[in-house]
Amino acid sequence: MICKPDAVERGLVGEILSRFEQKGLKLVAAELRVLDAETLSRHYEEHVGKPFYDDLVGFMSRSPAMTLVLEGPDDTYAMVRTMMGATNPAVSPPGTIRGDLGTEMTENLVHGSDSNESAEREIGIFFPGLA
Ligand code: CMP
Repeated sequence: MICKPDAVERGLVGEILSRFEQKGLKLVAAELRVLDAETLSRHYEEHVGKPFYDDLVGFMSRSPAMTLVLEGPDDTYAMVRTMMGATNPAVSPPGTIRGDLGTEMTENLVHGSDSNESAEREIGIFFPGLA
């Protein structure tokens, strides 16, 4: 998962990470880094060319993001995404990260892999030594 630049700027990384730790997921890798356009084009390959893509890259590369790997039982990715809430904070219920802490569609605090395959692919991009 990624705590996006808005989460780091707002000082919410501790709050977000604490939710996953309290849930019982284990933090196995973390790095605070500024993501460049090339790395983001690999990460967001399915979104390249979409109307929001340029804004997304501008936002995601404007200041450091915290990339993380969380470990847990089968389908941990699904647990993480449930806790994040929907991409659109307007329909993210209270109790979720975006429902509790966010108001914007692009600046939506967190990214979570959407399948085990995506998790493996994204870990390979951000933590090549771990895959
Ligand atoms: P994320 O889970 O990181 O995956 C793609 C990101 O693009 C998404 O979270 C949002 O930050 C952003 N995004 C997705 N859909 C839209 C949209 N319709 N308008 C603006 N930003 C979007």
